[in-house]
Amino acid sequence: MKPNPKLLLVLLTFGVVLVTGFKSTTADYVRPPPRENLQFPWNPKPSSHPQQVHISLAGEKQIRVTWITDDHSAQSVVKYGKQSGKYDSLAEGESTSYSYFLYNSGKIHHTVIGPLEDDTIYYYQCGGEGPEFRFKTPPSKFPITFAVAGDLGQTGWTKSTLDHLDKCKYDVHMIPGDLSYADFIQHKWDTFGELVQPLASTRPWMVTQGNHEKEHIPLITEEFASYNARWKMPYEESGSGSNLYYSFDVAGVHVIMLGSYTDYDESSDQYSWLKADLSKVDREKTPWLIVLFHVPWYNSNEAHQCEGDNMMESMEHLLYSAGVDLVLAGHVHAYERSKRVYGGKSDSCGAVHITIGDGGNREGLAHRYKNPKPEWSVFREASFGHGELKIVNASHAFWTWHRNDDDEPVKSDEVWITSLNGSGCIAERSYELRKILAAP
Ligand SMILES: *[C@@H]1O[C@H](CO)[C@@H](O)[C@H](O)[C@H]1NC(C)=O
Ligand SMILES: *[C@@H]1O[C@H](CO)[C@@H](O)[C@H](O)[C@H]1NC(C)=O
Repeated sequence: MKPNPKLLLVLLTFGVVLVTGFKSTTADYVRPPPRENLQFPWNPKPSSHPQQVHISLAGEKQIRVTWITDDHSAQSVVKYGKQSGKYDSLAEGESTSYSYFLYNSGKIHHTVIGPLEDDTIYYYQCGGEGPEFRFKTPPSKFPITFAVAGDLGQTGWTKSTLDHLDKCKYDVHMIPGDLSYADFIQHKWDTFGELVQPLASTRPWMVTQGNHEKEHIPLITEEFASYNARWKMPYEESGSGSNLYYSFDVAGVHVIMLGSYTDYDESSDQYSWLKADLSKVDREKTPWLIVLFHVPWYNSNEAHQCEGDNMMESMEHLLYSAGVDLVLAGHVHAYERSKRVYGGKSDSCGAVHITIGDGGNREGLAHRYKNPKPEWSVFREASFGHGELKIVNASHAFWTWHRNDDDEPVKSDEVWITSLNGSGCIAERSYELRKILAAP
């Protein structure tokens, strides 16, 4: 039989990708051009119709359901149950709204439901009418998978990231800031809400703020007005006084969401809250400790160089003493993964830092890197994509990064991460941690 030259070429290419793909730590990859902002045709709905439905974790065995109605008399009730069309439970929540210049938001409903069973599908209806939605609660034990993507926006690349996420079997989605890129144009928060609803109504979306959430006009508008009204996170449930920083436990993982755009110095409320939160972490119950914030501390891209330095100076020692395993950041529109680092150098008791600000926003990618590559940087590439973190058990987790141009099953970067809990680092640092926590 004569060999088919096309097939040979495909096999050869595949072979080269297999050999070089996983090992290569620098990219010789031709990047595709940016994509346009998505268009959202006007699609009027009855005024009580639930729009922009998304869910988030809200304390043990509870989920917060958030949606918006044009009708300000619509009730903040959620009917739910384990069978489609049969809602045997009902909860009533709260609502808010905000004005921004000439823009008046719809009624923003936040309703906490539960107690819910773990790893279970629930069907629900918002406001007692309209379409049925469904979500799955996260498991209470390992394994658990997190999807991670920052700096999303609403372009063709965002759509591509969301399509990839949709194919990934994740339990909870985490976003280290920069969601809608509305940038003062408030109705873009609404189109973003519609864009993410198919995913955000089915799995909890846990977010922290980025610079694009600020939308501050001095003397005229408050900071984070839209973000705080629309993306209420479990800050009250975690003893925080601000929606800009909070924490949650899920299946043996303690996740801390910090704010890069609120005070973080040692006399700040955020720092005091962080100390109190860390003092409650029990590594027997949550052997994994993960932190997210927007501005990366370890970044060898030319973009946003040193912007995280002040926050790092005040908080890195505390996180190090607490034995944080992994730090996820955004802001830089590219992907970078570090070794375990502390104080600017690799350190086996430090955290792995990953910058994943490549969700697909309209500002495009950050292509220029500092050379030579710093000793702590393992992999860096300016491409859009998302990450997946599968926590397999108390000691092992598997991190993968998926470039948008590839199929979801193709991993462009992958690494096993082992928890610091079993390492001796925690015991070694416990005196230091107690000293910091005890300081006024
Ligand atoms: C945790 O998972 C890793 C990777 O699959 C495995 O090698 C290890 O034996 C597991 N540990 C336990 C205690 O099961
Ligand atoms: C955490 O580490 C300690 C000390 O090595 C160990 O005894 C404990 O079993 C670990 N906890 C978990 C949940 O693996």
